[in-house]
Amino acid sequence: MKPVHVGLLGMGTVGGGTYAVLSRNAEEISRRAGRPIAITVAADRNLERIRAMTNGRCRVTDDAFAVVNDPAVEVVVELIGGYTVARDLVLSAIENGKHVVTANKALLAVHGNEIFAAAQKRGVIVAFEAAVAGGIPIVKALREGLSANRIEWVAGIINGTTNFILSEMRDKGISFAEALAGAQRLGYAEADPTFDIEGIDAAHKITLLASIAFGIPVQFARAHVEGISKLDAVDIRYAEYLGYRIKLLGLARKREDGVELRVHPTLIPNKRLIANVEGAMNAVLVKGDAVDTTLYYGKGAGAEPTASAVIADLVDVARAAATDPDNRVPHLAFQPDRLHDVPVLPIDQAETAGYLRLRVADRPGALADVTRILADCAISIDALLQREPEEGEGAADIILLTHVCRERQTLDAIARMEALPAVYGKVTRLRLENLQ
Ligand code: HSE
Repeated sequence: MKPVHVGLLGMGTVGGGTYAVLSRNAEEISRRAGRPIAITVAADRNLERIRAMTNGRCRVTDDAFAVVNDPAVEVVVELIGGYTVARDLVLSAIENGKHVVTANKALLAVHGNEIFAAAQKRGVIVAFEAAVAGGIPIVKALREGLSANRIEWVAGIINGTTNFILSEMRDKGISFAEALAGAQRLGYAEADPTFDIEGIDAAHKITLLASIAFGIPVQFARAHVEGISKLDAVDIRYAEYLGYRIKLLGLARKREDGVELRVHPTLIPNKRLIANVEGAMNAVLVKGDAVDTTLYYGKGAGAEPTASAVIADLVDVARAAATDPDNRVPHLAFQPDRLHDVPVLPIDQAETAGYLRLRVADRPGALADVTRILADCAISIDALLQREPEEGEGAADIILLTHVCRERQTLDAIARMEALPAVYGKVTRLRLENLQ
């Protein structure tokens, strides 16, 4: 049987894992795909590295454009990352009539609409299982397994670096800076960790999940993104005391008037399974109207877990390559001419429960002033805790959990609280999701 000829761009961690798993499981993969999947040519800036890895079993080059222009290549696997060169390579591959498999969430979150339109026009597949939550087949689940449902919301721990840091902060009672340094020492966080710790990587992923969940264009620029770098260890402790864990959650929720698309540190009841996802693991919870909630758990990064997703896409491409392009699984799950241009709502229209921590003068009426403001802003209190702070005599820490309300009600209440003479400094505010 004629093999599927693959051109692999980027032989780093995931490229190396893909090469290794494809070699090790060649027979099993070919039995599934119906044809062998062969890496015909591999490109990497470091020629020595790919020569050592491939040992003469495929052609090697340091020119990625030569691969996308190579007539022998049927499928291009893009594992280079970034938005610029990767975009040119992917669009050239499509233009040349090649299918594309990519793990590049940043590229698709930012340029996905252009890329999917080009692929549709040319009748080729752009597959991206590896772009979201590494080895967890969440794209497949949402796009195919749950296609009977109206998806109501998707919530995910989709960045392993930040989940590792948050787990360390909770387990060891250490600060964000200490946990980050530890994560960097252990190789969980990059030397420049900005994309992970500021929530950008998670926002790329939840943007893609929102599109395939709701059948809407990719709208990364409208996502609300907050990371964990400002999170104080004291809030992890207070949340724990109240029965919650703090996770960096990517959340996409469909409402009558639009879609909420946001990433931020979030209190989750500790009795939810997803609240117990620890270390660098990922998990995605999906609520469909028919199926109710389903949970997907696994490794969100790493050589072979991500290779598992890349190769699953290659198997899909091998099976579908000879089929009518108009009858394939659509890139964004819904037929391209049936996508809905539903707006992503501005963050001030988000509806969430909340966590507020403020320091007040320990004197009669201080708490009453605070709760009066919440009542005036029509915000209902769910729980209240008062604690003597470790430092700050004559003061008290007040921690309030509020029921669901509009973001702008909360911001209004915070502004009024901060103006009270009895309130010292800024109010710390986190969002809370019950995920029921
Ligand atoms: N840096 C990501 C994470 C993995 O920490 O989960 C790749 O998206």
